[in-house]
Formats: sequence, structure tokens, C-alpha cells
Amino acid sequence: MASQSSQWNNNTAFLLAATGSAVGLGNIWGFPYKAAENGGGLFVLLYIFFVITLGFPVFMAEVFIGKKGKSNPVSSVESLAIKSKSSKSWGIVGYAGILASLIIAGYYSVIAGFVIDYGFISAQGVTEGTAKDIWATQQTTFWDMTFWTLLFIFGSCYVVANGIDAGIDKAMRFLLPMLFVLVIAMVGYGAYQGDFNAGLDYLFSAKTEKFNSPGEVAAIVQAAIGQAFFSLSIGMGTLMAFGSYMPSSQKVSKASSVVVTADTGVALLAGLAIFPLAFGLGFNPEENAFGGSALVFETMPEAFAQLGALGQIIGPLFFFLLAVAAFSSMISILEPSVAFLTQKFSMTRMKATGIILLVCISLSLVSIAGHNVWKDVSLGALDNPFEFMKYFADDFLLLLVGTGMSVFVGWRLQNVVDKQTMGITSTAFMSLWIFVLKWISPVFLMTIWVLGNAKVLFEADLIAQVLSLF
Ligand code: TRP
Repeated sequence: MASQSSQWNNNTAFLLAATGSAVGLGNIWGFPYKAAENGGGLFVLLYIFFVITLGFPVFMAEVFIGKKGKSNPVSSVESLAIKSKSSKSWGIVGYAGILASLIIAGYYSVIAGFVIDYGFISAQGVTEGTAKDIWATQQTTFWDMTFWTLLFIFGSCYVVANGIDAGIDKAMRFLLPMLFVLVIAMVGYGAYQGDFNAGLDYLFSAKTEKFNSPGEVAAIVQAAIGQAFFSLSIGMGTLMAFGSYMPSSQKVSKASSVVVTADTGVALLAGLAIFPLAFGLGFNPEENAFGGSALVFETMPEAFAQLGALGQIIGPLFFFLLAVAAFSSMISILEPSVAFLTQKFSMTRMKATGIILLVCISLSLVSIAGHNVWKDVSLGALDNPFEFMKYFADDFLLLLVGTGMSVFVGWRLQNVVDKQTMGITSTAFMSLWIFVLKWISPVFLMTIWVLGNAKVLFEADLIAQVLSLF
């Protein structure tokens, strides 16, 4: 029984759902720490550059496949493959996307669990100087972590089970406005309380000392591209699924540009909320823990602690913002696999969501254990199962699927893409888009994929090796 409608019942649903998907932990938790790890300004400029030149074109390709294929990620790709007389095995791109989505669901919900936990911790107030220990302790508590993670998973599955209109669209109409108000409020507070100029300078001035070696520049480029794709929700079928519900009058190019702009805007705003506050309180990226989860779960709580009683309001507000962003993204992470099960096996949405719920819980337990019980179970350069899942999905699978979609649309669907669906009137613009999909994005994506995997899996610095030949 197909109880869900296969089309959004209004014209803004795609925009809301895709923006809710794109704006997530990647923007508020990921973007600021990656900027900090990669020296600030240069990373940010490269990030914006790659969002426009690579992210946007591939984003449109993914939405196009969904809109034209009108089905779940696997069937959409397969039916377009048949239509263009290509092999049906292109469907593997859809399967790989779904695999990535399940793994991401497994680790994303754990970070979201920490976020909810920290909402309560910061409301109770953190004593100055203790944030570091609190964060260390939080990660050792397997059952507490499981509790918060499951709360988050059940909440998002509940929305997804209710269908695309009564579940997803309805939730987004409520979550997104809240998210924007909260981000703006945080930026306003950072500007008022913190050192806004220092924050601005850090985010936007390219510090050239990071240009030291070609290897370092390559690493920053790689991080910027990876972040751009993850933040835009490219590569796991989310955009195909949401695109497949688009009403036929909606144009891919216009809808995509709205979502891409909103996502990039929120990432920059998140930086403008976090850095001025941190700098104003005397935190320094070179000395404090700004990398990885430590920025949000250690440095920020310490900053809130220094605000005293006020921190007990600003802190929870900040974590509430993160929780809302994570929640709307998680819904979109679950949708491709749920759509796949309902359509491929004619299941009810309820049953499909139930199955995905179980898969998601199992994977999240592995990821939780990676913080404590299996903390030392390392795989090569990857410290624990949590890191492994994150790496395998984000760096390994998403880039492959992104490349696959780019090549599929650029090389196989040349005669299927039409200006009408895309909403592009200029022939030159269409050709430019196809050219990027054919050549530019596959070359860039595969290069960083090879360089990145060589480093992580084989500890080989290929750039250094090539340069040493000269
Ligand atoms: N973009 C979201 C974030 O920034 C995460 C996300 C949701 C995602 N759906 C996705 C990432 C699909 C890649 C692919 O947090």
C-alpha cells in the first residue's frame, strides 16, 4: 500500500525540506571547527568558491535525477538509465547513496544526542574550568549516550513515518523559521558580547602562512570540497528523494539556488556566532581545543561558563539551535531509505520506517561504543568505530556517489536533460553546466578522493611523493 502521496502538496515544501536538510550539524558544528583546523580565512574562501563551482552544479544534477526519475534514489537512477539506453547497473549509485545515508544516520544521531545532553548540562550551569572534564566524562557514559541518541532517533523516525506532507513538510514549517531566528539571535549576541571584528577577520582574511607547502594547500582544498558537499546534502539520495516529490511546475535551477544560498549563509552565520564570542572571551584557536567536537562541546561550554548566570540562558539556546538543525537534517537522512523500502517492496511507510529505525539504532550503538567500550578498536589511521563510520560515509562513499551522479547526468543523460525541467533558458548556461558535470567535478572529486584515501588508508602522502620526483 502506498499510503504516502508521491508529490509535495505545495510549492515551498521542497525549498523548506531541502534547506532543512542542508542546514545541519555540518553548518554549525562542522563548518566552524573545520575553518579553525584549516587556518580560518583561506578555508572559508575556498569553501565558498567550491560551493559555487562544484557544489551547485552537482546539487542540481542530484535534484534533476529525482525530479525526472520521480521515484526513490535507486529506481530513479535505474529508470533514467533505461530511458537513456544505459546499463541498469547505474542503479548502484542509488544503492551506495542509501548505504551512506544509513551509516551517516548512525553517527549523526550520536552527535545530536550529545547536543541534547548539553542543552541540559548548560542549563544547569557549568563551573569555569570544568568544561574539559565534563566533555571527557560525557563520552564515557555508554547508557547515557544511548538514551539521548535513541530519543533523537525516535523523534526523527516519528516525523518520517507520518509521510512527506503530514510529517516532513509540517515539521519543516515549524523548525526552519525557528532555526533562522535562533541563528540570527546568536550572531546578534556574539556581536554584542564578543569581539566581532576579530571573528570577522578570522573568518574572511586568508592567512597565507598556511600556503607553506603544496601538501598543506591540497589538504585545505580537500577539506573545503568535502565540507561543501556534505553541507549541501549531496551524495546520499536525499536530494533525489526530495526532488522526486517536486511539483512539475517547479524549476530545478531556481529551487537549487535558493537552498544553496541559504545553506552557505547559515554556515557563515554560525561562524559569526561562534568566533566573536570565543575571541571576546579570550579563547584562541591556536591554544584552545578548536578542532573536532571539542569546539562545540568543550570550548563553547567553557565560554558559556564564563558568562555566569547569563550562560545558563545563552548556552541552552545555542544547543537548542544545534538540535533543531540536526533534527531537520536527520529527517532528510532517513527519507531515501524509507522511500526505497516503501516503493521497492510496497511496504507501508510505517513498516519501512520501523525497519530503518532498527538499522539506525544498531549502527548508532556501534558509534556510541566507539566513544567508550570500543574506544581503542582502531582501523588503520582511524581511531575508533565512530571515526571509521564517519570516514567511510563522508569521505569515501559520498564523494563516490557525487562523482557517479555527475558522470551519469553529464555523460549519459545529455539527451534527457531539458531546459524546461531545469528552468534554464540560456543554451550557453546549459552547456556550461553539462561541461562541469562531465569534466570538472569528476576530476576534482576523484583527485581528492584518491589523495584523501591514500593518506588515511595507506598513510601515503601522494603529493609529497610526486613532488619529490622533481
Ligand atoms: N547537510 C547536513 C548537514 O550539514 C547533513 C545531511 C543531511 C547530509 N542529508 C545529507 C549530508 C545528505 C550528505 C548527504 O549537517
